[in-house]
Amino acid sequence: MLTTLRRLFGAAPEPNTTLDRERLPKHVAVIMDGNGRWAQKRGLPRIAGHRAGGKVVREVVETAAELGVGHLTLYAFSAENWRRPKNEVSGLMRLFEEILQSELEELHKNQVKIEVIGDLANVSEGTRRQFEKAITRTAENTGLHLIIALNYSGRADILRTVNEALEQSAKTGQAIKMDEDAFSDVLATAGIPDPELIIRTSGELRISNFLIWEGAYAEFWVTETLWPDFGRAGFTQAIHDYQRRDRRFGGLTKDSDAR
Ligand code: IPE
Ligand code: IPE
Ligand code: MG
Repeated sequence: MLTTLRRLFGAAPEPNTTLDRERLPKHVAVIMDGNGRWAQKRGLPRIAGHRAGGKVVREVVETAAELGVGHLTLYAFSAENWRRPKNEVSGLMRLFEEILQSELEELHKNQVKIEVIGDLANVSEGTRRQFEKAITRTAENTGLHLIIALNYSGRADILRTVNEALEQSAKTGQAIKMDEDAFSDVLATAGIPDPELIIRTSGELRISNFLIWEGAYAEFWVTETLWPDFGRAGFTQAIHDYQRRDRRFGGLTKDSDAR
């Protein structure tokens, strides 16, 4: 396992003629969906799907690091996922803790910087501690920023920001006015560039409360592949397709003449 990671992180990236390394998305965000269906298809408990999904996380992190993608956000657990059966939730929390524990030193050696967005205060103590340890341990690293969205809700993050501003305003008696940049700077994603590409596996065509402010102009890429079957090839394909999109931001395409 150690050798594989060293090889994957340490070696010069495999030549990939289809990707333009100069035009990689600065930030790729992923809605890792379909673990439950993957398990169900095999007559396995849902947690087995989550375990299989955990292995893919590693492959995708390795691929992003090799390619030189600056920021990778993985949606691990939404604030809405508490609605799932207790044993699935506790199984997931244990799994996050285990994965982080077993991978932390390898990630650290490879200069990965771990960050969390979401309400970490309300996850179980062991899981929270493990994440806090990972954040502290990798704080000075200069490689891939790996952002884990844990107990995350885009709406909750926006509301928190608005309520803090209202409170501040009530205290000082002064109205607060924010522009887009100032607002972005007080969200959980402050300092992180907006995602340019959002990937969703398992064919669902929705955003599920993920980076709803930050992803306003992200390119959305969906595959029918279930998360445990996703991997290096899928991730590379998504970036390949992204590089062929025409991003207009409300304007016109570069080649269109103004007739
Ligand atoms: C995504 O897989 C993982 C999490 C939400 C934690 P799901 O568990 O949502 O898988 P499906 O959608 O039921 O197949
Ligand atoms: C979104 O997946 C959350 C994560 C991937 C962590 P869900 O499977 O929870 O989303 P919905 O419920 O289908 O919208
Ligand atoms: Mg799902």
